[in-house]
Parts: sequence; structure tokens; C-alpha cells
Amino acid sequence: MQMARFGERHEIDKKGAIDLVTEVDVAVERMFRSMIAERFPDHAILAEEMGGAVAPPAGPCWIFDPLDGTTNYAHGLPIFCASLALEIDGVPEIGAVYDPNRRELFTAERGAGAFVNGVPLRTSGAARLIDAMLVTGFPYDVHARVDEIVGLFGAFVGRARAVRRLGSAAIDLCWVAAGRMDGFWESDLQPWDLAGGALIVAEAGGRVTDTAGRAFTSRAGQVVASNGHIHDEMLAVIEAHRARG
Ligand code: IPD
Ligand code: CA
Ligand code: CA
Repeated sequence: MQMARFGERHEIDKKGAIDLVTEVDVAVERMFRSMIAERFPDHAILAEEMGGAVAPPAGPCWIFDPLDGTTNYAHGLPIFCASLALEIDGVPEIGAVYDPNRRELFTAERGAGAFVNGVPLRTSGAARLIDAMLVTGFPYDVHARVDEIVGLFGAFVGRARAVRRLGSAAIDLCWVAAGRMDGFWESDLQPWDLAGGALIVAEAGGRVTDTAGRAFTSRAGQVVASNGHIHDEMLAVIEAHRARG
């Protein structure tokens, strides 16, 4: 469905000044909801366009982003995906992210490793920030917080080998899992941006925390995900930036 409509002119609605939604976001989510309703009628769903279980419910809950990278999609830039996780009693059990442009299906099951198209994934070996390629994203309220967001971006630019901004948090996470990126940080994210990819990074041998270094949860709203080796250096850059105010 994403690829069938990619490159067309879309009906674009705005959820905020720069937060877009196309008819494809909504159609993919409808398809997903009817599939779950048919196969697992008792399961809860939390998904971007129609909401759902905001606090983790008891039992199974599917967390779904029908199109992660909507701004890229609407502009014809081929960096977007669909992202899915299954949590049971709030614990992530399964993650799956599909990148239709590269035909890559990233999957993970808790305790059983992470894979791309069935091939095991491993995070990178970069040991220091100066040898690392990082990736990040900007929240939709960036206009109100340019100095803060760009200030932290600049702090990482001054410390890392390179910093990228791709426009899909779920792909950012999967590319950390695949060792293409060494670390990712972002704040003001939603459970559907994070839940699938975070489990994929952890199962690929990486480390995932919030931006203060605390245990990650899909509702944390912010994340640092890395190969593990550079994680403390990344947290220290964030902490130093916070301390400067
Ligand atoms: C967005 C993307 C982007 C991130 C934004 C997210 P959406 O999701 O993941 O990379 O920077 O914060 O909201 O709106 O394209 O599903
Ligand atoms: Ca998203
Ligand atoms: Ca989305």
C-alpha cells in the first residue's frame, strides 16, 4: 500500500504546523486494525492515527506506526517504513519494521536476537564518539525550541565523526541495530515511533536507555540507542548540554 501510492500527489492534512498526515497513513492503519480484530479480537492496539491503549494494558498490546517518515513520504523521499511491536503486560516481546524501499524486514523477538530478512543483526564495534556516525531527528515543535534542539545537534557534530538526520525514527533505530549507524538520540517521540525499533536494537546487542540513562520503556518519549560502546559518551554530551541550560 505505501509503495503503491508513493510518488503520487497525496491528500495532506496537518496535525500541527509541520506535522502531516496523508490518506495512506490512515488507510494502512485501518488495514492493520481490521487484521488484528479478525485474528486477535481480544488484543489491545495503540496506533498513531486512531489512538488506543495509552497506558500499557494487562495482556497483549500491538503498537503500530502505519507510516514512520510521513514528511519524507509526502515529499517523495524514499526513507519511510511501517513499525510494529507486541507488548505483553507492558514488556516488549516482538518488534518488526518494514522498509519497503530497500525491501528490508527487520525483526526481533525478546531473547531470540534480531534479524534483517532472516539474517542476524549485530550492532557496530565503534568504540569512541570520534569514530562514530550518529543519527537523530527533530520533534514537530522544533520551531518553538530551535536553540535547544540545534544546540544539542551541534554538540554532537562537534564530537562525532558524522551526524545524520533521516526523518524516520524506526529506520534510525534499525540502522543502529544493523551497525550502519553507531548511535541515535531523539526526544519527544511516541510509543509507535520507538517500540519496535528499540527491541530490535537491544536484541542486536546494543544498549537502549532514555536520555538520562534510565531504563527504556516505549512510553519514555525519548531515547538513546547505541552499539553500547559509545553510550556513556553520548549520555555525557546530553548531560553537559542540559547543564549549560
Ligand atoms: C516522525 C519520524 C521522525 C521523527 C519525528 C516522528 P512520523 O514520525 O519518526 O523521524 O523525528 O519525531 O514523529 O510522524 O513520520 O510517523
Ligand atoms: Ca512515527
Ligand atoms: Ca506515523
